[in-house]
Amino acid sequence: MAQRKKVIAGNWKMHKSPEESKEFVEGLLSKLLDKESVGVILCVPFTSLFHISELLKDEPVGFGAQNMHWEEQGAYTGEISPVMLNSTGCEYVTLGHSERRQYYNETDETVGKKVHSALEHNLKPIVCIGESLEQREADKVEEVLSRQLSGGLGDLSEDQMSEVIVAYEPVWAIGTGVNATPEQAVEAHKFIRTWLDENIASGVGQSTTVLYGGSMKPANAETLLTNDDIDGGLIGGASLKVDSFVELVSIAKNIS
Ligand code: PGA
Repeated sequence: MAQRKKVIAGNWKMHKSPEESKEFVEGLLSKLLDKESVGVILCVPFTSLFHISELLKDEPVGFGAQNMHWEEQGAYTGEISPVMLNSTGCEYVTLGHSERRQYYNETDETVGKKVHSALEHNLKPIVCIGESLEQREADKVEEVLSRQLSGGLGDLSEDQMSEVIVAYEPVWAIGTGVNATPEQAVEAHKFIRTWLDENIASGVGQSTTVLYGGSMKPANAETLLTNDDIDGGLIGGASLKVDSFVELVSIAKNIS
């Protein structure tokens, strides 16, 4: 049994008004019975951060943003800085999500800068990596993951790495209803752990939380989460309803 705690992280993407976010959190807190044995994180729109921070202040449920700039301030119209995120009390930030890589020109280099900046500002990055269908079909999964890992995490120390969560999210599985098979996910997670051992420090592969993301839902969570190498899920669609999110947390809890 792995020593790492299972983590269920919601990625709301561009969903939920501040009011809807508060309603979700109130519902979640009323239904989450054992809040300690599984890590629970909500990555929400910027406009909801302040609203939910009040509700989560004394709760063991983490929350975070979905992107940020690496600079503290400046002429970057439309961006948000780590200092601004700090002011909301949030603890996490997802970086390098494939939707940002695909639609907003996020590169391995900018992910790397953001990871450093997040760590300098006491934010825990959830760094997303994963291959497209074309890359998988061309047998390039390991090449792509290596490149994304080097760009995002390559020059981190072992200490810095202890604050980072990695999310393996194959692009072809995100929002498509087609999840990776447990075998495909485990293979990628093992590759990521080996890469961390070889490129950060020996042992980091086993100490790092590596989540799977891509169409995870209550119906397929158990077969994925029973694998020791899969520490939890980064969940889009199924994180938007309290019931399915709570069900995912209890599936993770029963496996822990
Ligand atoms: P999905 O999204 O669960 O809706 O596939 C996952 C993600 O993008 O993080």
